[in-house]
Amino acid sequence: MKAEWVRQVAERLDAGLAQRPRVALILGSGLGELAETFEDIRAVPYEEIPEFPVSTVIGHAGRLVFGRLSGVPVVAMQGRFHLYEGYTAEQVAFPVRVFRLLGADVLIVTNASGGVHRGFQPGDLMLIRDHLNLTGKNPLVGPNDEELGPRFPDMSAAYDRELLALARRVGRDLGIPLREGVYAGLLGPTFETPAEIRMLRILGADAVGMSTVAEVIAARHAGMRVLGISCITNMAAGILNQPLSHEEVIETGQRIGNTFGRLVGEIVRRL
Ligand code: HPA
Repeated sequence: MKAEWVRQVAERLDAGLAQRPRVALILGSGLGELAETFEDIRAVPYEEIPEFPVSTVIGHAGRLVFGRLSGVPVVAMQGRFHLYEGYTAEQVAFPVRVFRLLGADVLIVTNASGGVHRGFQPGDLMLIRDHLNLTGKNPLVGPNDEELGPRFPDMSAAYDRELLALARRVGRDLGIPLREGVYAGLLGPTFETPAEIRMLRILGADAVGMSTVAEVIAARHAGMRVLGISCITNMAAGILNQPLSHEEVIETGQRIGNTFGRLVGEIVRRL
C-alpha cells in the first residue's frame, strides 16, 4: 500500500471539511441509519472517490457521511467493502487509513453477525472483546510502509480496554443490556454450515460474520483505538431449525437501530 494514495484521498476530502473527524464509524448491515441523525452532514458517495471500491451489497448505501454526533466531529461509512465482493483485504481496509490521516484516532466498528453462543438471541448487542481472523487474508501482507505503521503490529489488545469499559458503563446507564464475546471473521459469502458453527464454538467464537477483521487490523496498524459492536441479527446455522437469510439480517439490524444509535451516540459523547 502506498501511503501516498491514502494521503491524496485524505487531502481531497479534507479540503471540503469544516472540522476534521475525531471518530470514525463503520456502520454494518441494517445499522447505517445512525448517520442520518448526524448534524451538519456532508455526504460523499463512494463513486466520487476514485480510489474507493464501489459497494455492491443490497442494504449498504455506499457513502461517507461527515458530520457531528453528540457534538463530536465524526465520519461514518454507510456501507463497507467486503472480501467476498472480490476486494483485497487492502481495499477493504483502505478507508480506515484515510480516516486516520484525516485525524480520527478512534474507530467504532459495527457489524451484523450470527450468534454462535447459545445464550444469545437475535437483537442482542455484543461488545467485541477479541476476534478470530479466519478469512485467510490480512491487509498488511506485502511490503510494509513505515509511514502507515509498523511491520509487526501488536494485536494483544486490539479492542481497546478503556473503550470497552466506557461502553459497558454507557450500556448500564442507559439500561441497554450488552453481551460480550469473540467475533469470528470469515470470508463468506455463504452462511456457515452447522458443522462450521460447531467448529467455531470449539475455537472460542461467540459470534460469526463476514467483515470487520481487516478493518480492525489496519486500524491497529495505524495506531487507532478500536471499539467493536456487533448486532446479533440471527442465530448461527444449525442452532434453530430454520434457514438463514440476508433479509433477516437487515430486518433485525433495523429493528435494533434505535437502541444501537442511542448507545453509540452516548459513547461518542463521553469519549
Ligand atoms: N453468518 C455470517 N455472517 C453473518 C451472519 C451469520 O450467521 N449473520 C449476519 N452476518
